[in-house]
Amino acid sequence: MSERTALIPDSSEHTNGYDGGANTTNQPPFNITVRSVIWGILTTLTVAALVLLLFFQDSLPDNVKTLPWVGGEPKDSMIAALGILEKAPIIDGHIDLPILVRYGGYANNVSAVDLDSRMPAHVDIPRLREGRVGGFFWSVYVGCADPDAEGADFLEATWRVRDTLEQIDVAKLLIEKYPNTFQFAQNTKDIRSAISDGKIASMLGVEGAHQLGNSIATLRQYQALGVSYVTLTHTCHNAFADSCGLAPGKAPLHNGLSPLGFSLIDEMNRLGVLVDLSHTSDATAIQALNYSKAPVIWSHSSARAIHDVPRNVPDEVLSLIGTESGRDAVVMVNFAPYFVAPEGLATVKTVADHVEHIAKVAGKEHVGIGSDFDGIEIVPAGLEDVSKYPALIAELHSRGWSKYELAGLTGGNLLRVFEGAERVSRELKATGVQPVYDLYSKRTDIPH
Ligand SMILES: *[C@@H]1O[C@H](CO)[C@@H](O)[C@H](O)[C@H]1NC(C)=O
Ligand SMILES: *[C@@H]1O[C@H](CO)[C@@H](O)[C@H](O)[C@H]1NC(C)=O
Ligand SMILES: [Zn+2]
Repeated sequence: MSERTALIPDSSEHTNGYDGGANTTNQPPFNITVRSVIWGILTTLTVAALVLLLFFQDSLPDNVKTLPWVGGEPKDSMIAALGILEKAPIIDGHIDLPILVRYGGYANNVSAVDLDSRMPAHVDIPRLREGRVGGFFWSVYVGCADPDAEGADFLEATWRVRDTLEQIDVAKLLIEKYPNTFQFAQNTKDIRSAISDGKIASMLGVEGAHQLGNSIATLRQYQALGVSYVTLTHTCHNAFADSCGLAPGKAPLHNGLSPLGFSLIDEMNRLGVLVDLSHTSDATAIQALNYSKAPVIWSHSSARAIHDVPRNVPDEVLSLIGTESGRDAVVMVNFAPYFVAPEGLATVKTVADHVEHIAKVAGKEHVGIGSDFDGIEIVPAGLEDVSKYPALIAELHSRGWSKYELAGLTGGNLLRVFEGAERVSRELKATGVQPVYDLYSKRTDIPH
């Protein structure tokens, strides 16, 4: 503010200086005449140039006709997208940076990770800034155990809870390492305040209830550590719910949620931890949608009607959310080429097709972005890394999406759903609902 005042004198100073208040007549009249003539010529030239630009901008080279000050509404979709992202930056539902730090040659050594420089995959600070990112969920993912090793009832000792804690540790240390860029966030108030401070709101998401070690108490402690969502499954079935797996035709185990899975949702609703249905089987998704008191998310899933893979959300499920059904939810579109299009055909346009399909079936208020960057080996043409989100927003702008609709897609819809879950949590706590103490029925280590 003070800099601006110092640099740009206000017009009244000019008037006093040149047009002669009683106390400012040191300059000879000759000088005044010369200045007037020069200003006249310059003004005429400027007006002429503007008129030419306005009338002939379509015949100008692309880089010239995108000048933002030509015309009222920006004509060029990229300029429009950047304008929208200025006020409504991207909040991405799923980014896998912590697993890159685990297995990408860093061995969890955060000191060795330089996010100010070009990172090997899709995410670093310069590219996050270029992509107009205002927040993302850091996936604190660890994989499913080998089914042979963990046993049919998931009871064999594994290190998944330890490994999840290590992933949370890596994410938190990285967030702390760059305090001018990242701000830890666990709720919508935190997210909004991070964005208004010009920071990247950093939330944690656990990618699969297999990471809970069969225990709802573990969920409570993850929440205490700052976790905002838990995906009910990864690619394996677990004690709580069935997964859609990777290939079509994965045989179900519980036919959706297990009894413990319903209890898990009760506790997530009470705590305000978002229920994430990416990776789940259709039956799990349908039952969870029907049962959860809080709105749910798909942190990184696309539309099955556009590309038929089990990881994508079918119309049967999309039609259960949105304006028609009265159930709030947001499906955050995954960019992974194998979920977007047949091999070699994924582009920013085909990703936009998924966004538009979800919008068509569920409504534009029910779609978001969950790129899966750093968790995928290949990327769509035109969406190569986190610097490229504006290309997707520009593509949708050129297809007629309004700035309000796009601000919903970039983050507003997620914030509304998250606020809905926070409201449900407050209400449940106000009614005195108790923590869930159900133990996994197959456990024998605690008599019950
Ligand atoms: C972690 O990385 C830093 C910076 O590269 C290095 O100095 C340090 O030795 C590393 N620590 C371990 C345990 O590898
Ligand atoms: C939805 O929930 C109701 C009870 O709340 C239950 O009767 C019904 O079977 C459920 N439907 C599905 C598809 O899960
Ligand atoms: Zn995933």
